[in-house]
Amino acid sequence: MSPIENSGLGPLHKEGRFLVVKADRLTRICAALLQAAGTPEDEAQAVATGCVNANLAGHDSHGVIAIPTYIDAIKAGHIVPGAEWTIVQESPTTAVIDGQWGFGFHVSSKAMALAVQKAKSANVAACTVFRQSHLGRLAAYPLMAANAGMIGLAAADSGRSPKYVAPFGGREARLGTNPISIAVPSDLEAPFLLDMATSVVAAGKIQLAVARDEEIPSGWIIDAAGRPTTDPREYRKGGALLPLGGTQGYKGSGLAAMVEVLCSLLPGPGFGVEPSGRHNFGCFMAVFNVAAFRPLDQFKKEVTDFAHYLKTTPPSEGSYGVFYPGEIGYLREQERRANGIEIEDATWEKLRALARDYGLAGELDLA
Ligand SMILES: NC(=O)c1ccc[n+]([C@@H]2O[C@H](COP(=O)([O-])OP(=O)(O)OC[C@H]3O[C@@H](n4cnc5c(N)ncnc54)[C@H](O)[C@@H]3O)[C@@H](O)[C@H]2O)c1
Repeated sequence: MSPIENSGLGPLHKEGRFLVVKADRLTRICAALLQAAGTPEDEAQAVATGCVNANLAGHDSHGVIAIPTYIDAIKAGHIVPGAEWTIVQESPTTAVIDGQWGFGFHVSSKAMALAVQKAKSANVAACTVFRQSHLGRLAAYPLMAANAGMIGLAAADSGRSPKYVAPFGGREARLGTNPISIAVPSDLEAPFLLDMATSVVAAGKIQLAVARDEEIPSGWIIDAAGRPTTDPREYRKGGALLPLGGTQGYKGSGLAAMVEVLCSLLPGPGFGVEPSGRHNFGCFMAVFNVAAFRPLDQFKKEVTDFAHYLKTTPPSEGSYGVFYPGEIGYLREQERRANGIEIEDATWEKLRALARDYGLAGELDLA
């Protein structure tokens, strides 16, 4: 039995039409398409790998489904491949980075690498990033800090782009899905990792449900009149995602507001929607060097023991038991690396159409 079946979790996509594709092939296809759209090779590879890593972790909403949208954004001049970022303000522990509309995957990786470098000498560091495009699965950046023996935190918002989430009690979208991710070093096989939108789910999951012609659970969105609905198409007709927390949605709403302060107001672009609709993803990152607080090996061992302590909680009725933060994504990754990733036909067709447009269908075996 595979690790994911053993955990009681089934495949993510078992109904509807889809193709199963190995991660390496998917990465090669996406990198080639991005390069054909004018992206330098290293950036194309980083974006393709970032998307496929999201698929591997089970976040198909942030996987290769986004590649056609990114290519459209390049064509519209909203993403500038190869843009040179600039540091507009800097101290030994901080940096404010203007991404110059580059790929968020590339800009935010460089920003986190800079924060880790600063924390190596100063023990704590933080930076903000503005004017970058979508940065995908947020976990990618704090994991860089955890791999360096540090605690990494990242939050992101959608800048002054169109909004997705209704603040608690409202029926109009005025917040982004404003995710938060924290990664902690440990001796566990899976990373000890929080990675979540502050809305009920990421907006990409609505897009995915539309692509898969599926209903969504009640409690995810409201329609334009503020009524609950399970039809994902209502979202694009003036509906809105709900903040995390259901009847206690004021908690998700409050978290999202704080993320926006850190990611949009602190770096400078401000709140609300800028009329051009250009997608600016603001980001706040902070890094804490564990060794400045206690010996790293002791800390890693205790985090490992803590995860086991959580994991061995007796299960509640009908539950598959407790998964510590980051465990499910890791199990999903093992499964999908071995067996491949389910890609719905609608997304696969878009990738094939792009390959044809760029004359790459034969080379990429997508004819
Ligand atoms: N770049 C952006 O603008 C943006 C915006 C929003 C979300 N995102 C990304 O979208 C992805 C999806 O976010 P989401 O909030 O919809 O994710 P989600 O609700 O599916 O899961 C949130 C987290 O909980 C974990 N999890 C799920 N079930 C669990 C269980 N039973 N026990 C323990 N842990 C469990 C998941 O592995 C995940 O880490 C994330 O990678 C996030 O970073 C990005």
